Amino acid sequence: MNRTDQWADDGQGDDSRAGGVAEAFGQLYGAAPDGVWAAPGRVNLIGEHTDYNDGFALPVALPQNTLLAARARTDGLLRLHSAQGDGRITELSVAALAPGAVTGWAAYPAGVVWALAGAGHPVGGADLHFDSTVPTGAGLSSSAALECVVAVAYDELYQLGLPGPELARIAQRAENAFAGVPCGIMDQMASVCCTAEAALHLDARTPWDHRQVPLDLRGQGLGLLVIDTRVSHDLGDGAYAALRAGCERAAALLGLPALRDLDAAGLHKALDALPAELVPLVRHVVTENARVVEAVSRLREGDAAALGPILTAGHASLRDDYRVSCPETDLAVAAAVDAGALGARMTGGGFGGSVIALVEAGSEGAVGGAVTAAFGAAGHRPPRLFAVTPAAGARRLVPQLARAVGR
Ligand code: GLA
Repeated sequence: MNRTDQWADDGQGDDSRAGGVAEAFGQLYGAAPDGVWAAPGRVNLIGEHTDYNDGFALPVALPQNTLLAARARTDGLLRLHSAQGDGRITELSVAALAPGAVTGWAAYPAGVVWALAGAGHPVGGADLHFDSTVPTGAGLSSSAALECVVAVAYDELYQLGLPGPELARIAQRAENAFAGVPCGIMDQMASVCCTAEAALHLDARTPWDHRQVPLDLRGQGLGLLVIDTRVSHDLGDGAYAALRAGCERAAALLGLPALRDLDAAGLHKALDALPAELVPLVRHVVTENARVVEAVSRLREGDAAALGPILTAGHASLRDDYRVSCPETDLAVAAAVDAGALGARMTGGGFGGSVIALVEAGSEGAVGGAVTAAFGAAGHRPPRLFAVTPAAGARRLVPQLARAVGR
């Protein structure tokens, strides 16, 4: 593998795995699946911790997907198996699904079936076999990929005809109310609605009105490097909920529906009116929304390189104001920028996870090597590195449904 190949990712790898996943399904369940679907993980270019404030984000889909081979059942049973699991098939009754009743990874797909049924959609059971290349625990939305692939598969298996943003909302509800994680809607919107060679301009207040912003990185002589720090600090879960509550409290104190309703012009006056501990949170959200608007303008002008300083400024805000970075992500950002990256930032919820670095095409190896060396010198495990071309959102891989499921 030469160096160019090593850092190129055409996003076709997972599509070619559909046949193998269908075959594994047949061996497990003794019949062919009705179809094979895929839903990707994501990295967010800019717009972090803004979605639950009704604000903006700009994610791109990863070439890594969760694949699902699925076959509808008429007896109300939901059977789940994952190639990354312990080998067992989990068997549940759709009628008995309830928050808290399912633990571990199966809560995410089961939660989607529960959320669809709870929204009044006529869904029943299914046999499901998952196989994923989305790294887990790396802040790359492996759980959203798991939810969203079930949402798109069920949409077709049960002929629901739901639009993408509605499937994303169902998947988010599964995560919030069934799996108990108080996330916003960005990850699910990215997994369902992203398109290849584009970033998704999301307005979390009106997700149905999202826009595709063309992003031909290679055409502009650029590359996007993902640096998975391979650390995940435990305080993540509780801290996310506390930050979200802090933002909601600040909005209430300011008499606003959400922090999205505060702009840069009103920021100074608003900060004077808030208790000291809420000031940095509000400052981050308002400046971060402005960074998304700025980034979208630059991309629309065809100047993706201008994203570099916006990314690095976003990281400083997450580190100093929102305080969700950690020594490893700070080190990855600093080492990448020192090695010539145009800009870098942590991506996702924080407290570990991944960093993205915008680099000149061909310098991925040098930047990645510099980060790896800095990690070694600091006594950290080497990070996992890969390059990303903005890839497609959730889709069916096998062109025709093998069997129409009448109801
Ligand atoms: C996690 C959540 C998202 C979003 C990000 C931070 O990924 O799932 O909804 O809030 O953190 O931007």
